[in-house]
Amino acid sequence: MVIDITTAETQHMAASAKNSPIGLFDSGVGGLSVLRVLEQRLPAENYIYFGDTARVPYGDRSPQEVRDFTVEIGSWLQDQGCKMILIACNTATLLGMEALAAAAKVPVYGMVEAALAGAMAGGQNAAGLWPLGLIATRGTVESGGYQAAVAAKAPGQPFYAQSCPDFVPLIEKGILTGPEVEQAVEKYLKPLKEKGVATLILGCTHYPFLAPAIAAYLGENVRLVDPARQLAIMVEDYLKDRGLLNDGATTGFREFYCSGGSEAFKAQGSNLLGRPLKEIRKQVF
Ligand code: DGL
Repeated sequence: MVIDITTAETQHMAASAKNSPIGLFDSGVGGLSVLRVLEQRLPAENYIYFGDTARVPYGDRSPQEVRDFTVEIGSWLQDQGCKMILIACNTATLLGMEALAAAAKVPVYGMVEAALAGAMAGGQNAAGLWPLGLIATRGTVESGGYQAAVAAKAPGQPFYAQSCPDFVPLIEKGILTGPEVEQAVEKYLKPLKEKGVATLILGCTHYPFLAPAIAAYLGENVRLVDPARQLAIMVEDYLKDRGLLNDGATTGFREFYCSGGSEAFKAQGSNLLGRPLKEIRKQVF
Protein backbone atom coordinates (compact mmCIF):
# COMPACT_ATOMS: atom_id res chain seq x y z
CA MET A 1 0.00 0.00 0.00
CA VAL A 2 1.27 3.46 -0.88
CA ILE A 3 0.38 6.25 1.50
CA ASP A 4 0.18 9.48 -0.43
CA ILE A 5 0.91 12.58 1.62
CA THR A 6 1.59 16.01 0.25
CA THR A 7 4.82 17.88 0.79
CA ALA A 8 3.01 20.40 2.99
CA GLU A 9 1.74 17.61 5.20
CA THR A 10 5.18 16.04 5.36
CA GLN A 11 6.70 19.35 6.38
CA HIS A 12 4.04 19.79 9.02
CA MET A 13 4.72 16.32 10.42
CA ALA A 14 8.46 17.02 10.49
CA ALA A 15 7.89 20.32 12.27
CA SER A 16 5.75 18.73 14.99
CA ALA A 17 8.18 15.83 15.37
CA LYS A 18 11.02 18.33 15.80
CA ASN A 19 9.32 19.51 18.99
CA SER A 20 8.58 16.01 20.20
CA PRO A 21 10.70 15.02 23.17
CA ILE A 22 13.53 12.53 23.30
CA GLY A 23 12.69 9.87 25.90
CA LEU A 24 15.39 8.30 28.01
CA PHE A 25 15.40 5.98 30.98
CA ASP A 26 17.56 4.15 33.46
CA SER A 27 17.07 2.01 36.56
CA GLY A 28 17.67 5.12 38.66
CA VAL A 29 19.67 8.33 38.58
CA GLY A 30 22.50 6.89 36.44
CA GLY A 31 20.95 7.95 33.15
CA LEU A 32 21.24 11.56 34.29
CA SER A 33 24.91 11.26 33.27
CA VAL A 34 23.59 10.66 29.74
CA LEU A 35 21.10 13.52 29.94
CA ARG A 36 23.91 15.81 31.11
CA VAL A 37 25.93 15.10 27.96
CA LEU A 38 22.91 15.33 25.65
CA GLU A 39 21.91 18.67 27.14
CA GLN A 40 25.36 20.07 26.40
CA ARG A 41 25.26 18.99 22.77
CA LEU A 42 21.54 19.36 22.03
CA PRO A 43 20.17 21.93 24.50
CA ALA A 44 17.13 22.90 22.41
CA GLU A 45 15.72 19.36 22.46
CA ASN A 46 12.88 18.50 24.82
CA TYR A 47 13.57 15.55 27.12
CA ILE A 48 11.50 13.17 29.22
CA TYR A 49 13.55 11.22 31.75
CA PHE A 50 12.34 8.19 33.70
CA GLY A 51 14.30 6.63 36.59
CA ASP A 52 13.00 3.27 37.79
CA THR A 53 14.09 3.95 41.37
CA ALA A 54 11.53 1.55 42.87
CA ARG A 55 13.25 -1.35 41.08
CA VAL A 56 16.92 -0.29 41.05
CA PRO A 57 19.42 -1.97 40.75
CA TYR A 58 18.82 -3.76 37.47
CA GLY A 59 22.30 -5.27 37.54
CA ASP A 60 21.32 -7.99 40.00
CA ARG A 61 17.95 -8.84 38.41
CA SER A 62 17.18 -11.71 36.05
CA PRO A 63 17.54 -11.10 32.30
CA GLN A 64 13.79 -11.74 31.86
CA GLU A 65 12.86 -9.09 34.43
CA VAL A 66 15.14 -6.46 32.89
CA ARG A 67 13.80 -7.26 29.43
CA ASP A 68 10.21 -6.86 30.61
CA PHE A 69 10.97 -3.56 32.39
CA THR A 70 12.72 -2.24 29.27
CA VAL A 71 9.75 -2.95 27.01
CA GLU A 72 7.30 -1.59 29.58
CA ILE A 73 9.14 1.71 30.10
CA GLY A 74 10.08 2.16 26.45
CA SER A 75 6.46 1.66 25.40
CA TRP A 76 5.32 4.20 27.98
CA LEU A 77 7.84 6.76 26.68
CA GLN A 78 6.55 6.15 23.17
CA ASP A 79 3.01 6.78 24.43
CA GLN A 80 4.21 10.13 25.83
CA GLY A 81 4.93 11.13 22.22
CA CYS A 82 8.70 10.71 22.22
CA LYS A 83 10.31 10.85 18.78
CA MET A 84 13.03 8.45 19.85
CA ILE A 85 13.95 6.37 22.89
CA LEU A 86 17.38 6.14 24.44
CA ILE A 87 18.06 3.27 26.79
CA ALA A 88 20.35 5.21 29.12
CA CYS A 89 21.29 2.00 30.89
CA ASN A 90 23.82 -0.57 29.71
CA THR A 91 22.14 -3.47 31.52
CA ALA A 92 18.78 -2.73 29.90
CA THR A 93 20.48 -2.22 26.53
CA LEU A 94 22.07 -5.65 26.65
CA LEU A 95 19.08 -7.49 28.06
CA GLY A 96 16.15 -5.58 26.60
CA MET A 97 17.02 -3.48 23.57
CA GLU A 98 16.26 -6.17 21.01
CA ALA A 99 12.79 -6.75 22.48
CA LEU A 100 12.03 -3.03 22.77
CA ALA A 101 13.25 -2.25 19.24
CA ALA A 102 10.97 -5.00 17.91
CA ALA A 103 7.98 -3.59 19.81
CA ALA A 104 8.57 0.16 19.31
CA LYS A 105 7.43 2.33 16.42
CA VAL A 106 10.13 4.93 17.05
CA PRO A 107 13.90 4.42 16.87
CA VAL A 108 15.60 2.96 19.92
CA TYR A 109 19.24 3.67 20.77
CA GLY A 110 21.29 1.99 23.48
CA MET A 111 24.69 2.35 25.11
CA VAL A 112 26.77 -0.53 23.74
CA GLU A 113 27.34 0.56 20.16
CA ALA A 114 28.14 4.06 21.40
CA ALA A 115 30.57 2.67 23.98
CA LEU A 116 32.54 0.69 21.42
CA ALA A 117 32.58 3.52 18.90
CA GLY A 118 33.74 5.89 21.64
CA ALA A 119 36.50 3.54 22.75
CA MET A 120 37.72 2.83 19.22
CA ALA A 121 37.59 6.48 18.16
CA GLY A 122 40.16 7.50 20.74
CA GLY A 123 42.44 4.50 20.33
CA GLN A 124 45.14 6.48 18.59
CA ASN A 125 46.25 8.37 21.68
CA ALA A 126 49.65 7.83 23.24
CA ALA A 127 48.44 5.16 25.67
CA GLY A 128 46.74 3.23 22.85
CA LEU A 129 43.50 1.28 23.09
CA TRP A 130 44.64 -2.14 24.34
CA PRO A 131 44.34 -3.74 26.78
CA LEU A 132 40.75 -2.53 26.87
CA GLY A 133 38.80 -2.73 30.12
CA LEU A 134 35.12 -2.56 30.97
CA ILE A 135 33.48 -1.88 34.30
CA ALA A 136 29.76 -2.58 34.46
CA THR A 137 26.98 -4.25 36.44
CA ARG A 138 26.89 -7.97 37.06
CA GLY A 139 24.01 -8.32 34.59
CA THR A 140 25.98 -6.57 31.86
CA VAL A 141 29.17 -8.55 32.40
CA GLU A 142 27.35 -11.88 32.70
CA SER A 143 25.32 -11.23 29.54
CA GLY A 144 28.60 -11.53 27.61
CA GLY A 145 27.34 -8.87 25.20
CA TYR A 146 30.34 -6.56 25.44
CA GLN A 147 32.78 -9.47 25.20
CA ALA A 148 31.09 -10.66 22.00
CA ALA A 149 30.94 -7.17 20.50
CA VAL A 150 34.64 -6.48 21.18
CA ALA A 151 35.67 -9.91 19.86
CA ALA A 152 33.68 -9.27 16.67
CA LYS A 153 35.35 -5.90 16.09
CA ALA A 154 38.88 -6.83 17.17
CA PRO A 155 39.38 -10.59 17.41
CA GLY A 156 42.11 -11.71 19.79
CA GLN A 157 42.72 -8.33 21.43
CA PRO A 158 43.00 -8.25 25.22
CA PHE A 159 39.71 -7.27 26.84
CA TYR A 160 38.91 -7.49 30.56
CA ALA A 161 35.45 -7.05 32.05
CA GLN A 162 34.86 -6.39 35.74
CA SER A 163 31.53 -6.12 37.53
CA CYS A 164 31.26 -3.54 40.34
CA PRO A 165 28.05 -4.32 42.27
CA ASP A 166 28.79 -1.89 45.14
CA PHE A 167 28.97 1.20 42.89
CA VAL A 168 25.28 1.70 42.02
CA PRO A 169 23.97 1.61 45.64
CA LEU A 170 26.61 4.21 46.61
CA ILE A 171 25.72 6.51 43.72
CA GLU A 172 21.97 6.15 44.33
CA LYS A 173 22.68 7.33 47.88
CA GLY A 174 24.67 10.28 46.55
CA ILE A 175 28.00 9.03 47.93
CA LEU A 176 30.56 9.97 45.27
CA THR A 177 33.67 10.61 47.38
CA GLY A 178 35.21 9.46 50.64
CA PRO A 179 36.57 6.24 52.13
CA GLU A 180 33.67 3.97 51.08
CA VAL A 181 34.10 5.02 47.46
CA GLU A 182 37.89 4.75 47.57
CA GLN A 183 37.70 1.22 49.01
CA ALA A 184 35.19 0.09 46.41
CA VAL A 185 37.23 1.65 43.60
CA GLU A 186 40.38 -0.12 44.75
CA LYS A 187 38.58 -3.46 45.17
CA TYR A 188 37.20 -3.47 41.62
CA LEU A 189 39.86 -1.55 39.72
CA LYS A 190 42.96 -3.22 41.15
CA PRO A 191 42.74 -6.29 38.86
CA LEU A 192 42.34 -4.05 35.81
CA LYS A 193 45.21 -1.83 36.89
CA GLU A 194 47.39 -4.92 37.27
CA LYS A 195 46.49 -5.97 33.72
CA GLY A 196 47.67 -2.55 32.57
CA VAL A 197 44.45 -1.46 30.86
CA ALA A 198 45.05 1.57 28.63
CA THR A 199 41.40 2.42 28.03
CA LEU A 200 38.45 1.80 30.33
CA ILE A 201 34.80 1.86 29.24
CA LEU A 202 32.46 3.15 31.94
CA GLY A 203 29.88 0.52 31.02
CA CYS A 204 27.18 1.57 33.46
CA THR A 205 25.61 5.01 33.20
CA HIS A 206 25.92 5.51 36.95
CA TYR A 207 29.72 5.27 36.82
CA PRO A 208 30.59 8.62 35.15
CA PHE A 209 29.57 10.15 38.49
CA LEU A 210 32.51 8.26 40.03
CA ALA A 211 34.90 9.22 37.21
CA PRO A 212 36.99 11.54 39.42
CA ALA A 213 37.57 8.76 41.99
CA ILE A 214 38.30 6.20 39.27
CA ALA A 215 40.69 8.54 37.43
CA ALA A 216 42.48 9.35 40.67
CA TYR A 217 43.07 5.65 41.32
CA LEU A 218 44.08 4.63 37.78
CA GLY A 219 46.20 7.68 36.99
CA GLU A 220 46.21 10.00 34.02
CA ASN A 221 47.55 7.49 31.51
CA VAL A 222 44.34 5.48 31.46
CA ARG A 223 41.67 6.90 29.19
CA LEU A 224 38.13 6.72 30.54
CA VAL A 225 35.34 6.38 27.98
CA ASP A 226 31.91 7.78 28.81
CA PRO A 227 29.72 6.23 26.07
CA ALA A 228 27.21 9.08 26.37
CA ARG A 229 29.50 11.35 24.35
CA GLN A 230 29.34 9.11 21.32
CA LEU A 231 25.64 8.48 21.86
CA ALA A 232 24.94 12.22 21.72
CA ILE A 233 26.77 12.41 18.37
CA MET A 234 24.77 9.45 17.04
CA VAL A 235 21.48 11.03 18.17
CA GLU A 236 22.38 14.35 16.58
CA ASP A 237 23.33 12.67 13.29
CA TYR A 238 20.12 10.66 13.23
CA LEU A 239 17.88 13.67 13.88
CA LYS A 240 19.79 15.91 11.45
CA ASP A 241 19.60 13.38 8.63
CA ARG A 242 15.82 13.20 8.96
CA GLY A 243 15.15 16.89 9.52
CA LEU A 244 13.97 16.13 13.06
CA LEU A 245 16.52 18.15 15.00
CA ASN A 246 14.96 20.71 17.31
CA ASP A 247 17.04 23.71 16.30
CA GLY A 248 15.06 26.34 18.19
CA ALA A 249 16.91 29.13 19.97
CA THR A 250 15.48 28.39 23.41
CA THR A 251 16.33 25.61 25.82
CA GLY A 252 13.81 22.78 25.58
CA PHE A 253 11.70 21.39 28.42
CA ARG A 254 12.84 18.62 30.76
CA GLU A 255 10.31 16.38 32.48
CA PHE A 256 11.40 13.98 35.19
CA TYR A 257 9.56 10.88 36.35
CA CYS A 258 10.51 8.15 38.80
CA SER A 259 8.84 5.07 40.25
CA GLY A 260 10.19 5.44 43.81
CA GLY A 261 10.32 8.37 46.23
CA SER A 262 10.08 11.70 44.42
CA GLU A 263 11.85 13.67 47.15
CA ALA A 264 14.87 11.37 47.13
CA PHE A 265 15.06 11.59 43.33
CA LYS A 266 14.80 15.36 43.48
CA ALA A 267 17.64 15.60 46.00
CA GLN A 268 19.97 13.14 44.21
CA GLY A 269 19.11 14.40 40.74
CA SER A 270 19.69 18.04 41.68
CA ASN A 271 23.01 17.11 43.22
CA LEU A 272 24.15 15.07 40.21
CA LEU A 273 23.04 17.56 37.58
CA GLY A 274 24.24 20.53 39.60
CA ARG A 275 20.97 22.44 39.34
CA PRO A 276 17.72 22.30 41.27
CA LEU A 277 15.13 19.98 39.75
CA LYS A 278 11.72 21.48 40.35
CA GLU A 279 9.08 18.86 39.77
CA ILE A 280 9.45 15.09 39.86
CA ARG A 281 6.39 13.17 38.75
CA LYS A 282 5.56 9.70 39.91
CA GLN A 283 5.09 6.88 37.40
CA VAL A 284 4.56 3.37 38.67
CA PHE A 285 4.11 0.36 36.40
N1 DGL B 1 22.84 2.43 35.11
C1 DGL B 1 22.63 1.11 34.71
C2 DGL B 1 23.57 0.59 33.66
O1 DGL B 1 24.02 1.38 32.86
C3 DGL B 1 22.18 0.05 35.67
C4 DGL B 1 22.54 0.12 37.10
C5 DGL B 1 21.75 -0.88 37.91
O2 DGL B 1 20.58 -0.63 38.11
O3 DGL B 1 22.29 -1.93 38.30
O4 DGL B 1 23.83 -0.57 33.56
